[in-house]
Amino acid sequence: MQDKINYIEDVLRKYLPEKEGYQKIIFEAMEYALMAGGKRLRPMFMCEVYRMFGGADMNVIEPFMAAIEMIHTYSLIHDDLPAMDDDDYRRGRKTTHIVYGEAMGILAGDALLNYAYETAVSALGCTADVNRVAKALAVLSEKAGVYGMVGGQVVDVSMNSKVPDADMLDFIYRLKTAALLEASFMIGGILAGASDEETAALEMIARNVGIAFQIQDDILDITSTTEVLGKPVNSDEKNEKTTYVYFFGIDKAREDVKKYSKAASDILKNLNTKGDKTFVENLINDLIYRKK
Ligand code: IPE
Ligand code: IPE
Ligand code: MG
Ligand code: MG
Ligand code: MG
Repeated sequence: MQDKINYIEDVLRKYLPEKEGYQKIIFEAMEYALMAGGKRLRPMFMCEVYRMFGGADMNVIEPFMAAIEMIHTYSLIHDDLPAMDDDDYRRGRKTTHIVYGEAMGILAGDALLNYAYETAVSALGCTADVNRVAKALAVLSEKAGVYGMVGGQVVDVSMNSKVPDADMLDFIYRLKTAALLEASFMIGGILAGASDEETAALEMIARNVGIAFQIQDDILDITSTTEVLGKPVNSDEKNEKTTYVYFFGIDKAREDVKKYSKAASDILKNLNTKGDKTFVENLINDLIYRKK
């Protein structure tokens, strides 16, 4: 696991821009947020799904691995801003807006989002199969936007202090959290030549993984510590957010983390892949018991 994280961080470093020029400060802020250390789950799943479908040319997948982590990191920078969750810690250090100021925090998010696409587009120059890259770009942009992560965050922040219904809660989790995992799984498959049917199955696996992941995030917000998580606990209570845990109670929340993860594993079991499925299977299962 540590080897895989080291590899992903080498990839991220490779694609980060040089820290030079009048706008140097933004390159520093981008690096501060991106290289803070996170679990790197999205690029990890992307890379492992690519391998699972027989993908071998890392030059094609690496720009997308960097891009998805840049988009995820930008979503965290903006999520922590005073206008959103107003949190001061992330990945074990002060949040970007605390260190660089709010204006630069906003711009660092914008910068990472845009640079993600500059990076992903560069994959077009690394392959003879530009159709696959074009498809992957379409998935990346849709899952990050108003029909994906941004859309979920919109509903999440607009229901502050209001009580959602189960349907709306499901919508929020599917978009704000599952969408970037869906992109990770789908892009891994698409770039390795997965069929449309297989890509649709990957989307469903990731959707279940993502919903389980967000429920576990809500559980940890209540049961963990800032030291372990590297971000403030009780952020949801502070923001009067009705999370899955408040809505259904902690016992059902814990059960449902397992339920959604099992649904993901079941779909994966029925997939025929060229490569070995063990790593992805184990990772989905291990996330049920994650402590951070
Ligand atoms: C945090 O994501 C935001 C959620 C979608 C719950 P991660 O828990 O993957 O954060 P890092 O990347 O490890 O910091
Ligand atoms: C955030 O959900 C999901 C994002 C798209 C960033 P949370 O607000 O619960 O994430 P954390 O707990 O701050 O990481
Ligand atoms: Mg939030
Ligand atoms: Mg938050
Ligand atoms: Mg949270």
